[in-house]
Amino acid sequence: MPSAPPIRPLIAGNWKMNKLPSEAVPWLRTLLDRLAAAPHDHCDVLLNVPATHLVPMAALARGTDVRLGAQDVSAHAEGAYTGELSAAMLRDAGASFVIVGHSERRAYHAENDALINAKLGAALAEGLVPILCVGEREDERLAGCAREVVLEQLAGDLEGIRLAGADELVIAYEPVWAIGTGRTATADDAQEMGSAIRADLVARYPESGASMRILYGGSMKPGNAAELLAKPDVNGGLIGGASLDADQLLSIVEAAR
Ligand code: PGA
Repeated sequence: MPSAPPIRPLIAGNWKMNKLPSEAVPWLRTLLDRLAAAPHDHCDVLLNVPATHLVPMAALARGTDVRLGAQDVSAHAEGAYTGELSAAMLRDAGASFVIVGHSERRAYHAENDALINAKLGAALAEGLVPILCVGEREDERLAGCAREVVLEQLAGDLEGIRLAGADELVIAYEPVWAIGTGRTATADDAQEMGSAIRADLVARYPESGASMRILYGGSMKPGNAAELLAKPDVNGGLIGGASLDADQLLSIVEAAR
């Protein structure tokens, strides 16, 4: 396989169900001030926040290079789906990205690959960039089938998904055992899986697979980010806990240089 061209890293926070909208606005103001003082043209910065936070945060982020995303999307475009949020609603509220298939949704909301596939289609139809999360559980890694699990997820999730370019989709490799546990995959393990994902993407999308962003997620912190981000198939991070703290997030942005 030809070596991939340099890919602009994406440093993406995943706030999960944390902070109130009223806390998020002054937090973002501080982050924007600090980013303005520390040029960061080497990477893109994105915050995937609770949907209630999008409108006030987007008002503040308008005109800056900080992007906003949501953490889930309905598979349906509109209608009688109480409690759901459509891709069009999220886009209208200020999101340009959306996390799809996070392991917490797969585990706690029984999301399977067929549903995730439908959600990807719904997001893409509205021009949202999905961040598709894949990753093995600890028992699967111990059984030696981590790679098969991840490739099977990709096969189910991406079935029939057509893309016009490399910027339309982001993949996040998140080993489930590393999420929120303080345990991180080694940089070599992250690269090994990143390269398996890359080969799959290139086979699936010959025009754009080599330039698509593959993130690593799972206890990425200032102390381990540089080593992970130095790998060719770790083109950024999906960062939970550390993205709630502006100092830590800014350190990871620096580590992406
Ligand atoms: P973590 O979460 O950085 O807190 O491990 C990552 C994620 O779940 O996306």
